[in-house]
Amino acid sequence: MLVQEIFDRHARDYDLARRRLVYCFDLFYAAILDHLDFERDAKLRIADLGAGTGLLTLFIAEAFPNAEIQLIDVSAEMLTLARKRLGDSDRFEYIEADYAKADLGKYDAIVSALSIHHLDAEQKQALFSKAKNSLTKGGVFINGDQIAGETPEQNDEIYTRWRTLAREAGATDADFAAAADRMREDKPSSVRDQLAWLEKSGFASAESVFEDSMFAVMVARVAAQSAIVL
Ligand SMILES: C[S@@+](CC[C@H](N)C(=O)[O-])C[C@H]1O[C@@H](n2cnc3c(N)ncnc32)[C@H](O)[C@@H]1O
Repeated sequence: MLVQEIFDRHARDYDLARRRLVYCFDLFYAAILDHLDFERDAKLRIADLGAGTGLLTLFIAEAFPNAEIQLIDVSAEMLTLARKRLGDSDRFEYIEADYAKADLGKYDAIVSALSIHHLDAEQKQALFSKAKNSLTKGGVFINGDQIAGETPEQNDEIYTRWRTLAREAGATDADFAAAADRMREDKPSSVRDQLAWLEKSGFASAESVFEDSMFAVMVARVAAQSAIVL
């Protein structure tokens, strides 16, 4: 799988360039965390799809000290760095797998940051259905991801805004070159399409809670209890 080769190759320099290329880093990750509206001490089971070097897992683990988190990633190199960051503990399970193909367990929350845009439209829809079926009642699926516009013009605007703001945040020519290499296999979809697919997958609600150039956070919730059919 080409995506795996790309992330294996870029694993070591990935974290260094993160804040420069994702210029809205704090707001983006905060939007994901803010929508995990569980009690702080809840004993949660969470999956992080495309966990990479474990950035998002770390933020969640700190916010929810009793959460057990499965980090699923196709790149062994990225997971090695995640293990270095988070350590070996009963709270973390490192799974080297393609989440589009793997069977998922049962979770209170499934999260993902900057990963699902590697799947095409059909694969995203299949993953959204799998996520819905893998969540407990009241569970939440949060996808913070790279998105596309709805028209070629919007795509140009999004890309220009990203390059300008990433440059202002300190991104170097080398950062952009590495990003361009990683982005060769990107298949981003619009927020509108993704919200429609989430609703079609049976989530009770789906909304976009953060958008800035090519970054968006989409939140889909499973109903807390089955609807009563009269
Ligand atoms: C841009 S990194 C994001 C890492 C992390 N979530 C973060 O926020 O920093 C994307 C990660 O998704 C992984 N990935 C992409 N497609 C995948 C798939 N189908 N199954 C598992 N992992 C995948 C890549 O290997 C990479 O580690």
